[in-house]
Amino acid sequence: WQQGVAAAGTDNSPLQIFVKAKKKINDIFVEIEDYVKDTVDYMHDIEKEQKIINTDKVKEIEEFVSKVHGIRDVLSRDHMKVAFFGRTSNGKSSVINAMLHDKVLPSGIGHTTNCFLQVEGAPNDEPYLVLEGSEERCAVESVGQLAHALCKEKLSESTLVKVYWPKNRCLLLRDDVVFVDSPGVDVTPNLDEWIDKHCLDADVFVLVANAESTLMVTEKNFFHKVSSKLSKPNIFILNNRWDASATEPEFLDQVRRQHQERAIDFLVKELKVCSSKEAEERIFFISAKEVLQARLAEQAQKTSTPLTEGFQTRYFEFQDFERKFEECISKSAVKTKFEQHSQRGKFIANELRDILDGIYNDALKLKEERLAQRKELTDKITYTEQQLMLITQDMKKKIHAMVEDVEQRVSKALNE
Ligand code: GTP
Ligand code: MG
Repeated sequence: WQQGVAAAGTDNSPLQIFVKAKKKINDIFVEIEDYVKDTVDYMHDIEKEQKIINTDKVKEIEEFVSKVHGIRDVLSRDHMKVAFFGRTSNGKSSVINAMLHDKVLPSGIGHTTNCFLQVEGAPNDEPYLVLEGSEERCAVESVGQLAHALCKEKLSESTLVKVYWPKNRCLLLRDDVVFVDSPGVDVTPNLDEWIDKHCLDADVFVLVANAESTLMVTEKNFFHKVSSKLSKPNIFILNNRWDASATEPEFLDQVRRQHQERAIDFLVKELKVCSSKEAEERIFFISAKEVLQARLAEQAQKTSTPLTEGFQTRYFEFQDFERKFEECISKSAVKTKFEQHSQRGKFIANELRDILDGIYNDALKLKEERLAQRKELTDKITYTEQQLMLITQDMKKKIHAMVEDVEQRVSKALNE
């Protein structure tokens, strides 16, 4: 499993699908921004000299500059969001900590998490938190401090507190994954408010269930509400505390089968969010507590506390979950977040082309008009020249005749 630890979260991680797509679409928008700016400069230049561009068209293109800028701004803030739900004490905060390889969020027996906690990457080494509706950064060094800061504030359970954790301490945060931890679904009547406030833009939901009991009605109801508001949400089910099964090995397979069947039925028949084949890739039996302990020991280069029977299998299953989760979230986020941007980008590029095509056609028309005017003028000049030629020839003849006549008359007069 230690080799697995080293391989996880490297640059061939499936999260790179999102990271690379984000870089690519951003590069495309940098190019679009250049084109739009060039076009505006070009239009200003010809606007001064020629009369083919009206000012409305120039304004239309100028507006694209701020639109493209706005898209780039949203794009830079786009991330992959995963939200964790489940009953109190099932281990939601522990699963997040295990994935972050560190004790970031407070966890413990009893009702621990009492508001929404969003963990995202902080650019430098200092972790801090920001309370909802405030801009102030409160420095936190430890989980104890974080828990203390949260208790002190007496927050309502649907409040969101953002925890900024150094990106260099965790690859998932570096790659733009944002984690949302929630209080237990059984401690609030405000599930609708939770969904509207925190779930509509989530790419993946993780239901942290307790393998020692079974899926609860409150947990199921919550996900029924989620899937009625979002079309086919991506849901993973983690049967946590699977280490408990080690104490009753004779029932292990039987219990696992029971949980698996119920979870598949829930996803496929009740929520209708996926096929049974897909559901099999969405259900895992893990122990978050063990994974976190092992990862902390690994970082401190210590051997972890004596391992419970079956630890390795559970550890592999946790890694398998992480891999499938990474694939799912990055694909889903690319689709939901970037599809709109690419439609907008295409629209702007098409509009730009239409406007430039219009200018080109107007310029062609003007050229033709001027050519026609010039032809008319040349025709007139040639006609006048011909006329003049005829007149001069005629005059020449007449003068010739006159001279001859005068000569004849003079010589006749002389003779006489
Ligand atoms: P709330 O925030 O109160 O809703 O709970 P939670 O779902 O966040 O649970 P939390 O992570 O705080 O875990 C509750 C207790 O269960 C803690 O004492 C954990 O150490 C313990 N725990 C979590 N995961 C496991 C596990 O896989 N096995 C065992 N044995 N204990 C676990
Ligand atoms: Mg918690």
